[in-house]
Amino acid sequence: MTVSSDSMLPCQSLCVSVIGAGNVGRTLAQRIAEKDLANVVLLDIVEGLPQGIALDLMAAQGIESHNSKVIGTNNYEETAGSDVVVITAGRARTPGISRDDLMAINAKIVVNAAQQAIKYSPDAIFIIITNPLDVMTYLAWKATGLPPQRVMGMAGVLDSSRLQTFIAMELGISTANVTALVLGGHGDLMLPLPRYCTVNGVPIPELLDQATIERLVERTRNGGAEVVKLLQTGGAYYAPASSACLMVETILRDQSRLLPTAAYLRGEYGLDDIYLGVPCLLGCRGVTKILEVQLTEQERESLHISANSVRKNVKLALESVGMS
Ligand code: NAI
Ligand code: 2OP
Repeated sequence: MTVSSDSMLPCQSLCVSVIGAGNVGRTLAQRIAEKDLANVVLLDIVEGLPQGIALDLMAAQGIESHNSKVIGTNNYEETAGSDVVVITAGRARTPGISRDDLMAINAKIVVNAAQQAIKYSPDAIFIIITNPLDVMTYLAWKATGLPPQRVMGMAGVLDSSRLQTFIAMELGISTANVTALVLGGHGDLMLPLPRYCTVNGVPIPELLDQATIERLVERTRNGGAEVVKLLQTGGAYYAPASSACLMVETILRDQSRLLPTAAYLRGEYGLDDIYLGVPCLLGCRGVTKILEVQLTEQERESLHISANSVRKNVKLALESVGMS
């Protein structure tokens, strides 16, 4: 079901399909359209929901002065020929529910979404957002059968952006002056790397004492939960949508940005056959390079602990969908 027959997309335009028209999906659709990056097909299982969101977004097109079309649908046929497919479908966290608790429910949703989407967009790059992120990205990769560089997960951009913001707030300085890097799985075991965080090139350990840095690192680890606790009705979506939009833009415009991305590892960082957050160059072919930054013994050990937790959950998730 589409909004109307005259909403058909022009065949030469770039197209991003966003699966899941909830808070993250609809905000991402808005960001992509308002930046004029591509036409957007917004798909959800709930009838009327994506159509309503699409119509509402289109009604702002003149005011926002963009030319991207947004259509809403419940039918994967409408996603055909997408350049990028973003999967946000699933259940979000609510207070007291961890990312991992959502695993069994979201595993079925993500596998189905990936299998349906790849049928109609065999050349697409896939970005997974649904939690638990690193596990769902692995499942989506398996479900699509694509080369691993064409399937990736969004989390590191968000976690790094949170740390960047907290550093800027602490120092009373523009976020534009701050860079931050968070690696590892998207969860309590993520690995913020203060040594690689800078203010215009000055490493933050030269600007903040150890106790303050630890407090900001801890706040970053709990960044998602802090929003859930405040909202009570769901998780964060503005910063997640901005983070995913940056990845979409980098891919569509082949910008070769270095972004922390959940990528498939084949020996990098001493890890194999796992999706985990690492610094990656992204471009029109997906993950074009994985950068191995130097880690201390302790950081490397933390990364491996995070990886072990992801690996254990991948096994459970694969079993839950009969893919082991
Ligand atoms: P939401 O509950 O607002 O939206 C989820 C949408 O998925 C709903 O509209 C629902 O109808 C739809 N859906 C459910 N099953 C579906 C199916 N089989 N096919 C198509 N659509 C389906 O949730 P929200 O806030 O948008 O979050 C979505 C997911 O993203 C959650 O798993 C959340 O934990 C995750 N997330 C991940 C982040 C990250 O950094 N990786 C950041 C923020 C959210
Ligand atoms: C976040 O970090 C819920 O994973 C989501 O906000």
